[in-house]
Amino acid sequence: MTFSVPESLLPVRGDSVSLNFSTSAPSDTAALLLPVTSDDSKVEVPVTSLAPKGALEALETVGAKGTAGEITRVVVDGKLVIAFGLGNADEIDDETVRRAVGSLARTLYGTESAVISTEFGVTPVVEGLLLGAYKYKGFKAPCQCGCDGEHGLTDVTVVGKDDEKEAFDQAVILAESVMLARDLVNTPSNHLYPAVYAELIENVGKQVGLEVDVFDEKQLEEQGFGGILAVGKGSARAPRLVHLKWTPSASKSSVALVGKGITFDTGGISLKPGAKMEDMISDMGGSAAQFGAIVAAARLNLDVAVDAWLPLAENMPSGTATRPGDVIRHYGGITSEVLNTDAEGRLVLADAIARAAEDNPDFMIETSTLTGAQLVALGNRTAGVMGSDEFRDRVAALGREVGEQAWAMPLLEEQEEELKSPVADIRNVHNARTGGMLFAGLYLSRFVGEDTEWVHIDVAGPAWNGGSPRGYTPKRATGAPLRTIVATLRSIAEAN
Ligand code: BES
Ligand code: MN
Ligand code: ZN
Repeated sequence: MTFSVPESLLPVRGDSVSLNFSTSAPSDTAALLLPVTSDDSKVEVPVTSLAPKGALEALETVGAKGTAGEITRVVVDGKLVIAFGLGNADEIDDETVRRAVGSLARTLYGTESAVISTEFGVTPVVEGLLLGAYKYKGFKAPCQCGCDGEHGLTDVTVVGKDDEKEAFDQAVILAESVMLARDLVNTPSNHLYPAVYAELIENVGKQVGLEVDVFDEKQLEEQGFGGILAVGKGSARAPRLVHLKWTPSASKSSVALVGKGITFDTGGISLKPGAKMEDMISDMGGSAAQFGAIVAAARLNLDVAVDAWLPLAENMPSGTATRPGDVIRHYGGITSEVLNTDAEGRLVLADAIARAAEDNPDFMIETSTLTGAQLVALGNRTAGVMGSDEFRDRVAALGREVGEQAWAMPLLEEQEEELKSPVADIRNVHNARTGGMLFAGLYLSRFVGEDTEWVHIDVAGPAWNGGSPRGYTPKRATGAPLRTIVATLRSIAEAN
């Protein structure tokens, strides 16, 4: 089933190409998208039914080499051919194709229609096209150039074999979830705040067959969600907790998903410096990825039971805000001494993790833009993965498999001591300047049940691209680590 997003809840969506699948090549498209490879810096055209005669000569004439990411436009027999380089034919994997097709997709705006074949895999071609062409135009006034305001979105026909149709549909579903997550993260925080965000999740969640329950401040108060309330109470926009539930017809395993949903993080009373504070629009990236993942699980009809818990709050300084030194009580009873109000993510996550753990899921996947220390440790493209040894390694490996860089990191025994507080069960920050990502992971571990295999994926860097577009990764929101989470759900469903 498809879904639509009401404009009243999400005013702007990103653009991309529109795709359709066919078993035969249409003859009337404006452009042919042609994969080329490279042998010793010499361009090669793979044996493909779609390459017109003379394509190789035309590409050689303009000096194409076929290296990975190279895009070359030539006209052959009056027809536009856009060649995309895949590099050495022996070294091509799905990620090579996703990136090359992503770079290609970014050049398609203004081309009315195109055709591409699937000899290098239907899934990476679809992902590369939809995710690479994705562009968030924001709230700019309509274009005055005489175009339709969209600068010509492209219709792309993907030509493959009959038995590739299902993989095509599944790849579209996954990419649509990533684009939805990107839209949510890209939306400015004056447009997307907890109440609106919760309403949107409820609306879209129900369309795809999920059960949805939204806890407002009153219910959070009644049920003791002290962490979410403490973080949200400095803002005029009240917090929410959203519970989504996917119940498949057959499943032996259950998975809880938890995602940080800070719609804007000023730091609170422990106010952040001004430089780059606007990037904290992305501080709900974890919740957006989890929401997209459970939407995909339902639309893909995965055989695994999934519960998503998404704590949504805005972290603001004000006369009603939480102060450094305050002691709060989380859902389930554990108390935290809040020594820094900018370490707010772990406070809302503690409540959500404790609630998710109550149902004794077999696995728990939590993800958040949690620490600047993640960027210090691993840079801005590689997620830090902590948790139960085996599951942590499995999730990190799956992340790398789908092209979302991820690396296993330890939880440190020596930091246990640093969690201690004189006035509460634990404190939310430690004194040391080292190991900040790991300390946050250790803090979260206190709220996970004993028998649950769990991971914490810190995507402070990977969720947001502050630089230029590359491959299928656009500027701003990336959607990470949504594809890692869906890959993990798939792997659990297949083991059922
Ligand atoms: N949302 C931030 C972490 C972050 C930083 C995300 C940079 C994306 C890019 C988080 O709430 C935060 O402020 N963490 C503090 C924790 C510190 C006070 C212990 C940090 O990392 O500085
Ligand atoms: Mn913060
Ligand atoms: Zn934050």
